Amino acid sequence: MDTPEKTARPAATLTLPNGRTATLPIVKGSAGDDAIDISSLRKDTGLVTLDYGYHNTASCESDITFLDGEKGILRYRGHPVEELAEKSRFVEVAYLLINGRMPNKQERVEWSMLLNRHSLIHEDMRHFFSHFPDNAPPMAILSAMVVSLSTFYPELSQNRFGTEAINIAATRLLSKVRTIAAFSYKKSIGEPVVYPRYDLRYCANFLNMMFSSPVHPYEIRPEVVKALNVLLIVHADHEQNCSTSAVRLVGSAHVNLYASVAAGICALWGPLHGGANQRVIEMLEDMEARGETPRQRVERVKASHGKELLYGFGHRVYKQYDPRAKIVKRTCDNLLRALDIKDPMLEKMMELEDIALHDDYFVERHLYPNVDFYSGVIYRAIGIPKEMFTVMFALGRLPGWIAHWKEAIENPRFKLQRPRQVYVGQVLRHLDGTEYAADSSTPPEARA
Ligand code: CMC
Repeated sequence: MDTPEKTARPAATLTLPNGRTATLPIVKGSAGDDAIDISSLRKDTGLVTLDYGYHNTASCESDITFLDGEKGILRYRGHPVEELAEKSRFVEVAYLLINGRMPNKQERVEWSMLLNRHSLIHEDMRHFFSHFPDNAPPMAILSAMVVSLSTFYPELSQNRFGTEAINIAATRLLSKVRTIAAFSYKKSIGEPVVYPRYDLRYCANFLNMMFSSPVHPYEIRPEVVKALNVLLIVHADHEQNCSTSAVRLVGSAHVNLYASVAAGICALWGPLHGGANQRVIEMLEDMEARGETPRQRVERVKASHGKELLYGFGHRVYKQYDPRAKIVKRTCDNLLRALDIKDPMLEKMMELEDIALHDDYFVERHLYPNVDFYSGVIYRAIGIPKEMFTVMFALGRLPGWIAHWKEAIENPRFKLQRPRQVYVGQVLRHLDGTEYAADSSTPPEARA
């Protein structure tokens, strides 16, 4: 029996073709979209919903990140991303996403100490690197290494998801993925790895592992550290995007955090998602090789009818300028000025942006630059090769994946994620050649 409180909840009424109606409760969000709760739809009506690409489907309730694609708003745990990018460090934002609030002074110190303590990878894991082929894609190496962590740290592997174990695994991941990323770069250029240093902060430590060597020390410049912090912060979470949904889906089978995050890394690798940052630079290189102007590329993309894309443009949820792209562009300008770099690619990109923003095809489809459009110019200025760009995205997205996995696992309503389908294939056929348009195991009267 419904309580008065329950019956007073707002509801939507669905009218079915046979005239019957179903009443579906509406779940209110604290900001943004409300949702029609269809949990009882199949039981009450015998129908399921169909939503290719999940344009209209909320897979969960979450209090981690809010974004409004129409207004260009992005907030982590209520904090505007612009404010965090300007005033915080990446590790503080990681703490915020995973723990729900910014750390106080004491927690900041403890968090940094923990990240330092877990920064080394097991020496046996280091040897894995030497067995990948020289041209192995860094995202494949990264996901293999992350899933391998579960062999070295198996305590999360047998459904023992206690808070303490989750926190240690989260810290390990944040710290070790940075080391793994830097080691994989060193492997790709055939240099000896550089171990993490306790006296350096997260981003400076990463840059040192990437770029110092026994023969030439690396000068850590504050402008570069700042730019890297900003890039990692703007990538840190983006609610139910493709890779985060992969982490939640895989995690719903109660697999451990390392394996779930490895699935997220694989999803991020795709050029429609995180892999777009590498594709943007490759697109510009391709234009250079063909002697193609930005105007000619835009025309070619339009004439291809969806076969060719302007990488770094468009977004499933942003139907105006991606707020992260604005921050990245500003950071890019500041960094290039500080380092006195003139990147000819940047000029080409600005021209491409200007042409696309005034072209009917892009205007009608609400296609604006996304976070991946300008990020590559910053990475290039720092010295990170394009093959590593998506690894950098993964490093940034890690706190988001962890926060979502943790939120899901700790939610008593979290269930094995197993969608339904609408079957449209052959109903029944036998090896003797007989075929049926309806299921012959169903009595004829029930088939009508
Ligand atoms: N260049 C040219 N046309 C495009 C582009 C683009 N970058 N993006 C979308 N369109 C067209 C598309 O062809 C379609 O045209 P039509 O209506 O004539 O069929 C229309 O715009 C709608 O596109 P859609 O593919 O249905 O939209 P979606 O929401 O499924 O796609 C997207 C979103 C990000 C996959 C897509 O915009 C895209 O492929 N962009 C390029 C890749 C990219 O930059 N990805 C990074 C996204 S930001 C990082 C992240 O969070 O993952």
